[in-house]
Amino acid sequence: MNTQTPQPMTHLPTQSYESLFSASIEQINQALERALDKRAYDTSSQANGLWEAMRYGTLDGGKRIRSILALEACKACGGDIESILPTACAIEMVHAQSLIHDDLPCMDNDDMRRGKPSVHKAFGESTAVLAGDALIALAFGLIAKETQLRGKATPQHLLSVIGDFSDVTSVQGLVNGQFVDILYEGQPFTPDILEYIHTFKTGALFRFSLRAGAKLAGADAIVVDRFTQLGEKLGLAFQIVDDLLDIDSTTETLGKTAGKDQLQEKATYPAFFGVEASRQQVEQLSQDALALLEETAGMPPGYDSTNLKTLVAFIANRLH
Ligand code: IPE
Ligand code: IPE
Ligand code: MG
Ligand code: MG
Ligand code: MG
Repeated sequence: MNTQTPQPMTHLPTQSYESLFSASIEQINQALERALDKRAYDTSSQANGLWEAMRYGTLDGGKRIRSILALEACKACGGDIESILPTACAIEMVHAQSLIHDDLPCMDNDDMRRGKPSVHKAFGESTAVLAGDALIALAFGLIAKETQLRGKATPQHLLSVIGDFSDVTSVQGLVNGQFVDILYEGQPFTPDILEYIHTFKTGALFRFSLRAGAKLAGADAIVVDRFTQLGEKLGLAFQIVDDLLDIDSTTETLGKTAGKDQLQEKATYPAFFGVEASRQQVEQLSQDALALLEETAGMPPGYDSTNLKTLVAFIANRLH
């Protein structure tokens, strides 16, 4: 394998991710705030503690990268933001649930998340489990009840997005990945196992995000397939970078405990391939992602992949 340091594949914009996508991040945060406003639901005040934990785990923090990818995929394919916004929120809810459960003592046992005590530290373990459960179901309801189909997106597209969402939230998706991640703690593993874990625990939600964006823009099957592949590349790259940051970065920068993977003997890319070779894999995946975006040029009417190309660079180069 070539061990030379890879050349940066695409220039990073001078602005940060947060400033370049601030308007979309704000739009997602406001929609999430509405979706998690307990006054809109028929629950008694007895459930207040549950709502608080759900809000604490979902709002106020997080890069929103998956939901931004969904929004940008939809826009790149000529879709309307109203078609994708509820799904973008649902993605963040399921992502937040996966983090809440990932941090539990029976899982990765992390006391810190997004720079504050993890949900089970702040609210107790049983509430953390239940808050995660409620977030998944709420997310499905949000897509089904709130999606306003615009442009070329049809009820058929929406139904198929809900079907995909079931795959990603269940045993065909991130739960499967988390199961195998825990199974291989402290155990010998192969590159195939490693790719399997990362593809499922993290790749599945990225894959869904890009695919849903294209579907809810009413894109045709070839374009949906390209965006599905794009999600697979970006999801794997994102998790390899997460593995690298666990080694390279600090608890303060990450807002979660650094250096845990080695202590817990997790199956990670740097643990198997080393840091340099892992970086090269991120580089290769980024190149593949850019090629997929190029290949799709001109296919959906009004196609514009500028923002998605920028996001590829941000994912490869992120520092937290
Ligand atoms: C953390 O994801 C979990 C992984 C899959 C690596 P993020 O790094 O996107 O977490 P937030 O949402 O920004 O906190
Ligand atoms: C992310 O893997 C898995 C999830 C789907 C939540 P990690 O266990 O490496 O995520 P962090 O490092 O705790 O955020
Ligand atoms: Mg984990
Ligand atoms: Mg973890
Ligand atoms: Mg990690």
